[in-house]
Amino acid sequence: MFRSLPSVAWELSSVISGREWVREGEREQGLVREEMETKMGEQRRVCVTGAGGFVASWLVKLLLSKGYFVHGTVRDPSDEKNGHLKKIVHASERLNLFKADMLDYDAVAAAIAGCEGVFHVASPVPSGKAPNPEDEVIKPAVDGTLNVLKACSQAKISRVVYVSSVVAVSMNPSWTSRHILDENCWSDKEYCRATENWYCLSKTMGESEAFEYAKKHGLDLLSVCPSMVLGPLLQSKVNSSSLFLINILNGNRESIENKIYNFVDVRDIADALLLVYEKPEAAGRYICSAHPCKISELIETLRSLYPGYKYPKNIIDVEWGGPDFSLEKLKKLGWKYRNLKESLVDSIESYEEAGLLVRG
Ligand SMILES: NC(=O)c1ccc[n+]([C@@H]2O[C@H](COP(=O)([O-])OP(=O)(O)OC[C@H]3O[C@@H](n4cnc5c(N)ncnc54)[C@H](OP(=O)(O)O)[C@@H]3O)[C@@H](O)[C@H]2O)c1
Repeated sequence: MFRSLPSVAWELSSVISGREWVREGEREQGLVREEMETKMGEQRRVCVTGAGGFVASWLVKLLLSKGYFVHGTVRDPSDEKNGHLKKIVHASERLNLFKADMLDYDAVAAAIAGCEGVFHVASPVPSGKAPNPEDEVIKPAVDGTLNVLKACSQAKISRVVYVSSVVAVSMNPSWTSRHILDENCWSDKEYCRATENWYCLSKTMGESEAFEYAKKHGLDLLSVCPSMVLGPLLQSKVNSSSLFLINILNGNRESIENKIYNFVDVRDIADALLLVYEKPEAAGRYICSAHPCKISELIETLRSLYPGYKYPKNIIDVEWGGPDFSLEKLKKLGWKYRNLKESLVDSIESYEEAGLLVRG
């Protein structure tokens, strides 16, 4: 049974301070404090898979700022693209990087051993069509997730938080403009396959198989399903969802359909992941999406803030804009989020600083 971390910390401190009444003396008190800190550290040790990615980097930053010890998995610890992790405050004391491809069970198990909780974030997020989707997208997402969960069972992990996506909720021909999609809605795997939406298929299969595994093996599993993620970059390698906004600003899209996109800030996702991890009453899936916004409105807002960029010239009207998601479940747990303008400004300032934008 999962217990809230503050209560574990309180229990430990009360047991140890009880001993302090018996053993007087500064040296002993120092030793007791050290023992308590070590035990609390052990209790608050978590693993984050795919630590160098956009979402995971912000999660690592948040966890370190809250005092957690973090085991971060990366495929290549010596690659420059993971260099930003070492610069996060407290990384030198509390972040250990482990080399692990999600398809390598032993490497995954080594990273998870000794942790209390696991955040499984790693998954391929292709920015275009993958030539070999089965091997490049589906297998790492599905077999990789099962490897993580098996290692969690073996290591007796208290709680696992899986990062899924709203694409595991919304890709279903049964949903119409009348539906407000909530956590009971699932994408249709056959529909994803038939329409060759491999990423959507990988997330739907990854999440549904994860819940099947957790039920069968008594693992406490939660999932968070974010919509399109924006926000400042910590990492140097540009990820797919940031590229969406960068392409709009750089004039790489001559025309664009006037669909509704649902946006959420990367820092608010990190908050949501920690919230569901720490709240004992959290259970099941959580949709994490803050701002439904028509592309025409997005471009209008961007143009008013940053008139100097080459925005798409043609905005093509479409019959149905896109799905509407319910936020109630995550909000009830206490989740709060930034406004869209703040996310856009912080994203664009970060792209400008990284030299990713070309003024028109
Ligand atoms: N960004 C969004 O709009 C969005 C929306 C909903 C859900 N999500 C989910 O959020 C998670 C993170 O996405 P992101 O936007 O942060 O993308 P990202 O920056 O591309 O991060 C993906 C991470 O997964 C790792 N990875 C991929 N295949 C792997 C494998 N076989 N073994 C080990 N690591 C592997 C990548 O490692 P390498 O650097 O070594 O390739 C990278 O660190 C994903 O699960 C994604 O589905 C993202």
